[in-house]
Amino acid sequence: MSENFQPFPHFSTDALHAGQDPEQWNCKAVVPLISLSTTFKQEAPGKHSGYEYTRAGNPTRTCLEACFAAIEGGKHACVFSSGLAATGTVTSLLDLDDHIIAMDDLYGGTNRFFRNIGKARGIKTSFADMRNPEHVKKALTPKTKLVWIETPTNPTMRLVDIKAVAEIAHAYNADIMVAVDNTFTTSYFQRPLSLGADIVFHSVTKYLNGHSDVLMGALMLNSTTLYEKLQWHQLAAGAVPSPFDCYLVNRGLKTLAVRLKQHQHNALTLAKHLEGHPKIEKVIHPGLPSHPQHDLAVKQQRGFSGMLTIYVKGGLKEASTFLSSLKVFTLAESLGGYESLAELPSLMTHASVSAEERAKLDISDSLIRLSVGLEDIEDLIADVNQALDKAIPSD
Ligand SMILES: *Cc1c(COP(=O)(O)O)cnc(C)c1O
Ligand SMILES: *[C@@H]1O[C@H](CO)[C@@H](O)[C@H](O)[C@H]1NC(C)=O
Repeated sequence: MSENFQPFPHFSTDALHAGQDPEQWNCKAVVPLISLSTTFKQEAPGKHSGYEYTRAGNPTRTCLEACFAAIEGGKHACVFSSGLAATGTVTSLLDLDDHIIAMDDLYGGTNRFFRNIGKARGIKTSFADMRNPEHVKKALTPKTKLVWIETPTNPTMRLVDIKAVAEIAHAYNADIMVAVDNTFTTSYFQRPLSLGADIVFHSVTKYLNGHSDVLMGALMLNSTTLYEKLQWHQLAAGAVPSPFDCYLVNRGLKTLAVRLKQHQHNALTLAKHLEGHPKIEKVIHPGLPSHPQHDLAVKQQRGFSGMLTIYVKGGLKEASTFLSSLKVFTLAESLGGYESLAELPSLMTHASVSAEERAKLDISDSLIRLSVGLEDIEDLIADVNQALDKAIPSD
């Protein structure tokens, strides 16, 4: 498996400069200013600079949104106070009795949102195994307004053919919004808009910020009509991030490309090491030829992030001892930061998914999700080896 993927053209230049032109500030600041002011002076009533009140718009936020649109290959971007606030905003565009088709293997919080909050608002969600795009065709109804894709999924790394699903949904009804959660792979390695999606979703909290110190969500898109609706929701519902958080994310973005290359290298190296390890039952990484959808991964993505899923031999006891014995990896939820993290989805991130659903998705008590960070790979391999030795005695 080669790591010599061709990046999208201009990615790093956009991540460094889009929306950051020093000419926009009187002082010509190279680094975007943090504009903490909640309100902006008007020349005459209703005659303003483009900014009135920070919930509606803020200069530091504008810089970040312009940069996000550019790196995703889109026209527009809107940021929100968390990933789930962004999911909630997309769902707010739907009416009573409208219908969502979602991937059946979803981030736990997205699953909980559709099942509970969506349902309470009178929106029905069907969950489909979109590995087969025909399942989407079967689930479509005249009330379907949103198709929510996550690929690769969390934590079992199932892939969805974005182009095939978008074509099926739009052939049925061109007004259906096809949204793709691109958190795992990021705009550096996957561009859903170019594959026919209408909206790209990111939990910015993860790789885009990359330093585990900001909670934020983003939506990137090309349709100006849809963008105006989302912007209206930023103003009317108010789930917007602070200017300081926008500044931090903008700073994190500058190293996205170099971080992702190293995440990819470390995760693939560890995946290959573990695939031959006698104390490991199974390794799931879309970059390994053993992954059942490896061909789709290579076709649809330009590379892989630091996410890696393993099944240790044994059950809950072995998995728990393994996790408590790690010294370089930290036992914690979340992913996509510079630091390596490990977690047990069945008791942590996916505890809100019913036991029955988890069984269907192969999320067993021996499944461990690793977010492989930027430490030296030798130290990561040694750490996993020593924890496996503590958890599982050699025969
Ligand atoms: C974390 C995450 C979310 C939710 O985002 P928050 O920023 O935590 O609200 C959604 N999808 C995926 C894949 C995630 O990892
Ligand atoms: C989206 O908009 C961008 C910027 O205008 C453009 O380059 C791109 O081709 C558009 N993508 C699609 C899929 O229409």
